[in-house]
Amino acid sequence: MSQPLLSVKNLTIDYIGEEKDFRAVDNVSFDVAPGEVFGLAGESGCGKSTIAFAISRLHKPPALIRKGSEILLAGREVLDLDPQALAAFRWREVAMVFQSAMNSLNPVLRIEDQFYDVLKKHKGMTKAQARERAAEMLKLVDIAPDRMRNYPHQFSGGMRQRIVIAICMALDPKLVVMDEPTTALDVVVQREILQRINELRRQFGFSVLFITHDLGLMVQFCDRIGIMLAGKLVEQNSAEDIYKNPQHDYTKKLWASFPSLHGGVLA
Ligand SMILES: Nc1ncnc2c1ncn2[C@@H]1O[C@H](COP(=O)(O)OP(=O)(O)OP(=O)(O)O)[C@@H](O)[C@H]1O
Ligand SMILES: [Mg+2]
Repeated sequence: MSQPLLSVKNLTIDYIGEEKDFRAVDNVSFDVAPGEVFGLAGESGCGKSTIAFAISRLHKPPALIRKGSEILLAGREVLDLDPQALAAFRWREVAMVFQSAMNSLNPVLRIEDQFYDVLKKHKGMTKAQARERAAEMLKLVDIAPDRMRNYPHQFSGGMRQRIVIAICMALDPKLVVMDEPTTALDVVVQREILQRINELRRQFGFSVLFITHDLGLMVQFCDRIGIMLAGKLVEQNSAEDIYKNPQHDYTKKLWASFPSLHGGVLA
């Protein structure tokens, strides 16, 4: 691999308990190349979201990242960022889209003002500049720019999710972390959104860390996939090899439990 954009090394995360600590992430290492989509798959509770939060530096107590863990983004240690560096890091370098992201829009603000908030804070843009950027970004996710005058409740769930993605992309992040970004949406809308993200990725060159329970979508959307089991990354390989030539017993079981995979690669 060329110089990785994201390099996670020996990541170990415990949830501190009153009596006993729980090891949610156990010595996990993986790299994500510039422009690559890396997927994390595995059963519920295996530690995927815990990793996503740590990479975005959004983890909170009782989560504790153990010494010896490294998260390097473009060569910089994410775990060492001070609060000021962190504020810039969160939008400009890493953007996160969650399952419930569409509910993260502020219900009492017009869409244009939500763009403005982010663009003023991080790029010092004027209202007019922010409006211009918002129009450009909304077009990319197939929403008519004049709708930026509307409030969130005037959009469908899928549209709101696309708006959140557009806001995330407005700062041109290097890495987009997506944890079940489309699970709350119907299958058709889900695929449309992922297709659109894929096109944007080709255009802008950001990398994606993608988490979903939908293994079919995972195989189609990702370049490489890591399989997690009880906090450990037990196997990682190209999407094609993980699917066609699984090595670990757990990966084989995972596919066996999901027989309805059918080809068709996202455009
Ligand atoms: N705040 C917390 N306090 C204690 N334990 C937690 C906390 N958050 C998560 N855990 C535990 O850490 C483990 C990993 O959780 P995580 O949310 O990372 O799983 P996941 O792989 O994202 O699961 P899912 O697919 O269901 O979203 C689980 O066993 C969970 O119970
Ligand atoms: Mg999760």
